[in-house]
Amino acid sequence: MNLDNQKNNHQSRREFVKSSSLLAGAMLAAPMLSKANFFSGSDDVIKIALIGCGNRGAGATVQALSTKQNVQLVAMADAFRDRMDSSLKNIMDEMSDKKNRVAVKEENKFIGFDAYKHAIALADVVILATPPGFRPIHFEEAVKQNKQIFMEKPVATDPAGIQRVLAAAKIAKDKKLNVVVGLQRRYQSSYRELIKRVHDGAIGDIVAAQAWWDNDGVWVHPRQPGWTEMEYQMRNWYYFNWLCGDHITEQHIHNLDVINWALDAYPVKAQGMGGREVRKGKDYGEIFDHHYVEFQYGNGAILNSQCRHIKGTMSKVDELLIGTKGKVFCDEARITDSKGKTLYQFDKKTDNQPYQNEHDELFAAVANGEFKFWDAERGAKSSMTSILGRMCTYSGQMIEWDKAINSGINIMPEKYDFAATPPILPNADGLYPVAVPGVTKYV
Ligand SMILES: NC(=O)c1ccc[n+]([C@@H]2O[C@H](COP(=O)([O-])OP(=O)(O)OC[C@H]3O[C@@H](n4cnc5c(N)ncnc54)[C@H](O)[C@@H]3O)[C@@H](O)[C@H]2O)c1
Repeated sequence: MNLDNQKNNHQSRREFVKSSSLLAGAMLAAPMLSKANFFSGSDDVIKIALIGCGNRGAGATVQALSTKQNVQLVAMADAFRDRMDSSLKNIMDEMSDKKNRVAVKEENKFIGFDAYKHAIALADVVILATPPGFRPIHFEEAVKQNKQIFMEKPVATDPAGIQRVLAAAKIAKDKKLNVVVGLQRRYQSSYRELIKRVHDGAIGDIVAAQAWWDNDGVWVHPRQPGWTEMEYQMRNWYYFNWLCGDHITEQHIHNLDVINWALDAYPVKAQGMGGREVRKGKDYGEIFDHHYVEFQYGNGAILNSQCRHIKGTMSKVDELLIGTKGKVFCDEARITDSKGKTLYQFDKKTDNQPYQNEHDELFAAVANGEFKFWDAERGAKSSMTSILGRMCTYSGQMIEWDKAINSGINIMPEKYDFAATPPILPNADGLYPVAVPGVTKYV
């Protein structure tokens, strides 16, 4: 084979990125990407930027740097310098055998609310891993700058944010920018095998489902002297809806997404109940510690979904699908007929590492100049499923999907600045207003 011809028939990575941008401008619909692996020369580095240098951001970066491709971390952005420093140290420790992959010059470390723009500009692929409230803003910018994207779930915390992500998702698709969303069950072999069989009719029509994210809960960062209210909420972000979306959005989204995936649909309406039994006091902001939601789908299927953060209670993170001919027990990776006879058992010892696989597949596509991933729309709709659930448990009302997603509800701050006023404030005792079903309207 004539290697020169082979080379000429394919684009270099630089050309791919450049032509992606050019196409982006022209909004061409036809695929333009060749399938070569461009990573055989000295000019083959895929540059990445990390936006949101916390635990998951560091983990996702190490996974990106651990793919087969020649990936290099060149820029970082965080609201806080201390978070960036500890994250960079963790990444360097993890990459001690491939030190040259971490190449973040001091001038490429950006701090503050506008940091993301500068870091995104320096990369080919960006990792968006801040608390989810910022995701719509960061995703929009990454799409505007024509980047390939890995973004963590959830992708927004309110309906207005979901609409922004849906609009940017459409542009990303038109521009042929790969977008992977960190709903890692979609990248896990066992789930892929189960859902493929469901779609092939293994359990007939799905009539009901259950989903659980029940466990002890997460960290708390108590207020420190000298912090403004904005800094406190940013540091203790889990407990504020504009940042986190409540734990139904922040964690239970994984299970809700599996059900949406299996049904290939999103709920048409929902109602539910919830509250806070033990999550009381100044450190716990406004979120609930339990939610139970009945989601109804267009085909009549009902999803009973529960999530709880209460120590000392049953722990379970799982999904169950019930069809006219059988059931799928997701955590066991087993399919049975209606009487309980096993029809299929995935060997869990052979399961892959889904967090790593997200990056293996994304970076292989980028390296090969392929447009293979457009997860943003489904990521947004599964995020919306969880937001709809929160709206139902907070209000105690039955709420329709269309009304919720088109409600325009926006819970984000008007201004991003450590001196600015966040959208929710404590009373004189340091306690935040908490939703009361029957009284609270849509939030
Ligand atoms: N897929 C999964 O299983 C999984 C697991 C853990 C976390 N996550 C997701 O990852 C995201 C981050 O979670 P985490 O546990 O790493 O939180 P974290 O608090 O450890 O990290 C978040 C980082 O973002 C920074 N940040 C906040 N606002 C910012 C802004 N406007 N600009 C730049 N940086 C900003 C924070 O300072 C912090 O360093 C969340 O959306 C979470 O749901 C996903």
